[in-house]
Amino acid sequence: MEAGKKNIIFGWSWLILFLILGFYLFLRAADPSWAGLQRMAWRAAHVHGNVLAFLNILYGLTIDKTNLGSGLKQAGSWLAIIGAILLSGSLLLMPFFMQIALVEMIGGAVIILAVAIMIYGQLFARV
Ligand code: HEM
Repeated sequence: MEAGKKNIIFGWSWLILFLILGFYLFLRAADPSWAGLQRMAWRAAHVHGNVLAFLNILYGLTIDKTNLGSGLKQAGSWLAIIGAILLSGSLLLMPFFMQIALVEMIGGAVIILAVAIMIYGQLFARV
């Protein structure tokens, strides 16, 4: 299997989860008593989950077109998936467990690393 295939499968699956979260937000959005940390964190989870799902789909479509070695392709591909799970997943859990903000930060760093590998592949190792 090409490295990017798993990002494409993960991306579409992650997208439907966070679209459903958007639908849930829609059902509760009119309730003026629903405010505070849970609403803010789940709204941020909805946005980041959707955007990182698209990032993974793009990553999956692009990574195998670079001339990176298979180790770096796999590393970037897994980092994009792990970063999306850590970042958007920790935003979902934040209302119950504030300390998870540390995991959110790690997720962000992991995503940055995955994108840096992609940039390296685009600039210096392109077919
Ligand atoms: C790729 C698809 C989507 C993207 C990129 C997206 C993005 C966003 C963004 C940027 C916000 C604003 C967040 C803020 O102002 O802090 C938002 C909020 C919201 N979205 Fe989505 N959205 C998507 C799909 C959906 C779907 C399918 C629904 C279902 C009805 C939905 C329902 C909502 C609701 C209700 C809010 C407001 C939540 C609140 O006020 O607490 N979204 N979304």
